[in-house]
Amino acid sequence: MKTQTMKAVLCTKYGAPEVLKLGTVNKPNPKLNEVCIKIYASAVTNSDIFIRSSRVPLKLLIPFRLAMGITKPRRPILGLVLAGEIVEIGMNVTKYNVGDKVYGLTGFGIGCYAEYKCMKTDDSTFGCLSKMPSNVTFEEATMLAYGGLLALQYLEKGDYKSKKQIAIYGASGTTGTLAVQLAKQAGAHVTAICSERNHELVKSLGADEVLDYTKQEKLPEGKQFDLVLDAVGKMKTSVLRRACEKALTSDGENVSIDDGDLKLVSSRLKEIKELTEAGLIKPYLDKIYSLDEIVEAHRYVQQGHKRGGVAIRIG
Ligand SMILES: NC(=O)c1ccc[n+]([C@@H]2O[C@H](COP(=O)([O-])OP(=O)(O)OC[C@H]3O[C@@H](n4cnc5c(N)ncnc54)[C@H](OP(=O)(O)O)[C@@H]3O)[C@@H](O)[C@H]2O)c1
Repeated sequence: MKTQTMKAVLCTKYGAPEVLKLGTVNKPNPKLNEVCIKIYASAVTNSDIFIRSSRVPLKLLIPFRLAMGITKPRRPILGLVLAGEIVEIGMNVTKYNVGDKVYGLTGFGIGCYAEYKCMKTDDSTFGCLSKMPSNVTFEEATMLAYGGLLALQYLEKGDYKSKKQIAIYGASGTTGTLAVQLAKQAGAHVTAICSERNHELVKSLGADEVLDYTKQEKLPEGKQFDLVLDAVGKMKTSVLRRACEKALTSDGENVSIDDGDLKLVSSRLKEIKELTEAGLIKPYLDKIYSLDEIVEAHRYVQQGHKRGGVAIRIG
């Protein structure tokens, strides 16, 4: 039988965006407990930038290289997020059928900058999968998968459904734009913190108040929060962020997206699907690139100022 090939982006060493090269590799075949997904869209996330550049804090360098590859990525096809259609199923797969449209993350399996990806359907550190929302495009689904999983996990860590005054710090990013909407639909008064150019965007997503971290250093007099969610990571900070943390009520919680590992849980993907189909949350995409524009896409995302998500259209 003739071996089938597919287009993929290969990362053969750690480094700048230019280490990513478009190439051709063998198309994978599903094992007994795997599905094969034809990928229509992936995303460029901060996790991809982190892996490609291997620019990690010194104390994490050894564990990172042991997990991902000592001198170069052990799995040369990067990409953590996918949305696509199941085209083949292994003999033991019962949850999915050929033709199902799915979205998810691939964890340590990465491999989404390609036309096909085989993965297990049960949750593990090698990914989580769910049927995708029926009312969004494949590109939009990638943004919901990554930002949605992060936003839900860390809002739940802060018990967001019981909170009345929630601040979302870094409200304009992939996670932030979804966190604003999730907090709002749960009934909270939402204060979104982002630079002025993104104020209209976050208001359109439901924020009740907006503050500019680049210009303001103080909160309005008497302002208090019972949950402050950092949706951009501890490296991105400001005087206003510290003011938010100081304005917590006595039983208020301060949660960062960097507190612990992202959990790859398909039940959260299902919840995001339901909320999206009910019209309670919606994805916001900044840019869509094609697979052969991957270097440009990585350059853009690593600047750290994307609004919502950045997707890669494949095929
Ligand atoms: N726990 C885990 O396992 C895990 C996994 C993956 C990611 N993460 C964390 O999640 C972060 C990425 O989240 P993301 O992809 O959703 O973010 P993102 O989309 O990259 O965030 C981009 C937004 O951040 C805003 N921003 C930049 N500097 C800021 C600052 N100093 N203060 C406030 N906002 C600022 C930018 O707005 P302006 O242009 O207006 O500044 C931009 O809209 C990663 O960096 C990492 O820290 C954690």
